[in-house]
Amino acid sequence: MRITTVGCGYLGAVYAASMASIGHEVLGLDVDQKKIDDLNQGVAPFHEPGFSAVLEEALGSGRLRFSTDYSDAADYSAHVICVGTPQQIDAAGADLTYVHAAVDSLVPHLADDAVVLGRSTVPVGTAASLRERLREAGKDTPLAWNPEFLREGFAVEDTLRPDRIVYGLPDDPAEAARAREVLDLMYAPMLEADTPLVVGNYATAELVKVSANSFLATKISFINAVAEVCEATGADVSVIAEAIGLDDRIGPKFLRAGIGFGGGCLPKDIRAFMARAGELGVTEALGFLREVDNVNNRRRDHVVNMARQELGGTFTGKRVAVLGASFKPDSDDTRQSPALYIASKISGRGADVVVTDPAANTRVHAERPNLAVAEDAYAAAAGADIVLLLTEWKQFKELDPVRLREVVATPTMIDGRNVLDPAAWREAGWTYRSMGRP
Ligand code: UGA
Repeated sequence: MRITTVGCGYLGAVYAASMASIGHEVLGLDVDQKKIDDLNQGVAPFHEPGFSAVLEEALGSGRLRFSTDYSDAADYSAHVICVGTPQQIDAAGADLTYVHAAVDSLVPHLADDAVVLGRSTVPVGTAASLRERLREAGKDTPLAWNPEFLREGFAVEDTLRPDRIVYGLPDDPAEAARAREVLDLMYAPMLEADTPLVVGNYATAELVKVSANSFLATKISFINAVAEVCEATGADVSVIAEAIGLDDRIGPKFLRAGIGFGGGCLPKDIRAFMARAGELGVTEALGFLREVDNVNNRRRDHVVNMARQELGGTFTGKRVAVLGASFKPDSDDTRQSPALYIASKISGRGADVVVTDPAANTRVHAERPNLAVAEDAYAAAAGADIVLLLTEWKQFKELDPVRLREVVATPTMIDGRNVLDPAAWREAGWTYRSMGRP
């Protein structure tokens, strides 16, 4: 297949390189010239394990290139919309500006046999409105929705070996048949490997994606709500998670209590889902997601309060070391990061905050000038009155409590991700506190 990806962020760039690696001819389009230049030179614009190798290999094969010139799209037959749908600045709903711009930029260059496919996470109803937008622009181009489910940190793996593929097809039988033919060719190796395929209409495919993310967010907030009860009773949330996770109807994944979920997906997706439900007149159906969001936000403030308590009631004049800035390990993405929220809040209350992150230091330095940045955990913790572990990078999980103790002013550790061994840290002389564990 000859495929363009419109938008070369986490989703589009990884998709473009992965599709080229399985034999398709791919053109990645984006409006950001610097990003396109970097990608053409094999430089990954973000930290994503395994991506550089796939990018390099795909560029080397001659099947992949990147451009800012949308007229190049005329030679391609499948156009995959991979642009972001962030939260609106002053409202809970998704901002569809980039999706609309992607379709409008493609319109003048769509070949007669072209098909448009959407992978971005969008509010239900978007695909139908985009099909209408194409029609109003005089195009009969079939459009299908094909949501992505990749996790940052595993983006290449999730793209090449997805646990399911979803097609949202148009109602018109001829358009549906053409879209399906293109999708089947694009995903031929995955389908041959027996990847489950789920087929529905536009609205179903759109809702599959937001339902999946809302369910994951709910699972995390559920265990974090239980952690709140544990903190009031002396129970241990990690033992509870282990015990309930052994029931295979519940399962052990996404039951790690801590400082909650962040990133460019879960927080904005549950809010956009609620906003869309409101527009559709079914606000009450998703009322529980408001509580999912509230529990999540409370975890962050809980850590701030816990740190203040350990520091004797004030942050003024205290030195606080924060280990982690990205919203999860193996990523340099700091969007909606609980770690950065906590670091900024503590800094705003008068503490001298030093942050370190194995991948996001440059980003923190550029975006949060009020936070000092250190090379590694030992440098960040030098002279600290308290240390907060907020992103569970491997480097932090493997820290040596004896060695770290030598550099701090006061050995107090708040483990926001429940990843350290309480006994080992207490034995090394630390005051150790974690989330929902005695
Ligand atoms: C999420 C979904 O997991 C993907 O399936 C989806 O495709 C993607 O959003 C998307 O919409 O594009 P991602 O944002 O990369 O992927 O991150 P997750 O692995 O879901 O983690 C989200 C947050 O939840 C992180 O801050 C993580 O630390 C937190 N988390 C996760 C917990 O606090 N506890 C857990 O048990 C699991």
